[in-house]
Amino acid sequence: MKVAVLGAAGGIGHALSLLLKTQLPAGSELSLYDVAPVVPGVAVDLSHIPTAVNVKGFGADDLAAALSGADIVIIPAGMPRKPGMDRADLFAVNAGIIKTLAEGIVANCPKALVGIITNPVNGTVPIVAEVFKKAGTYDKNRVFGVTTLDVIRSEAFIAELKGVDVNSVKVPVIGGHSGTTILPLLSQVEGVTFSEEEVAALTPRIQNAGTEVVNAKAGGGSATLSMGAAAARFCLSLVKGLQGEDVVDYAYVDVENGDAPYFAHPVRLGVNGIAEVLPYGELSAFEEKAKNDMLATLNADIQEGVDFING
Ligand code: 2OP
Repeated sequence: MKVAVLGAAGGIGHALSLLLKTQLPAGSELSLYDVAPVVPGVAVDLSHIPTAVNVKGFGADDLAAALSGADIVIIPAGMPRKPGMDRADLFAVNAGIIKTLAEGIVANCPKALVGIITNPVNGTVPIVAEVFKKAGTYDKNRVFGVTTLDVIRSEAFIAELKGVDVNSVKVPVIGGHSGTTILPLLSQVEGVTFSEEEVAALTPRIQNAGTEVVNAKAGGGSATLSMGAAAARFCLSLVKGLQGEDVVDYAYVDVENGDAPYFAHPVRLGVNGIAEVLPYGELSAFEEKAKNDMLATLNADIQEGVDFING
């Protein structure tokens, strides 16, 4: 199993690479790419951890070597948010970065499963898809927007609010990955019930949790450690699927006849990426309204990504 992390020297990249070095199956190869000159040092640093995962670092000019033969590519590269910015403000900078990296994937590992963290995820996932379509290598079952951070935040907040074991909390989160496009389905959480007031308070807390971190870091960037943990969890789901295990996880994916062209759903993973996009089940009246209210924003975010390549 070869996993490439593009943007490995950033805050998310550091946390993600550490977790993958300690959690990927024995015999895996971990390929760390970044334009920042520190990346070979990150690889050397990680290589001193005694696990059976081989780590190599690749600098700015070595994207091809970093990607060659990769089974999975996870992309946290790009600029993070500062206070006052929302994810869409990042589009101008990050759209170009993600396009270049997607072109690298086309040239070097067109069959890889690709997990995109670079914000705004609502728009960067369509950018990658459009680059792949132009090249004739697009397979909608191999491209994922990583929304796992919304899931793990929901788990943490609900366990805290309800005083239950966090390991027992499972929360479906659908939609996109910014603001009101993030929709936790609190009505479907097993074993706990929420009052209307709790739903009205918890839903926006989950939606704005990224901003909570941005403000708390006061100019020092956005979520890195929790995002690294989320991305590692999602990457390990992809690995399990590739190894033939039956695994279901949530991700922002290309859906046919869905609520929007891309929408986070539960997906069954397998040896070719998505084996099946699963339905998200019945929504409460609150969730149905929140879903309908978000669609104009989500569709505009998606179109911005599509237009960046085709416009
Ligand atoms: C967040 O939700 C960085 O997108 C990430 O905080």
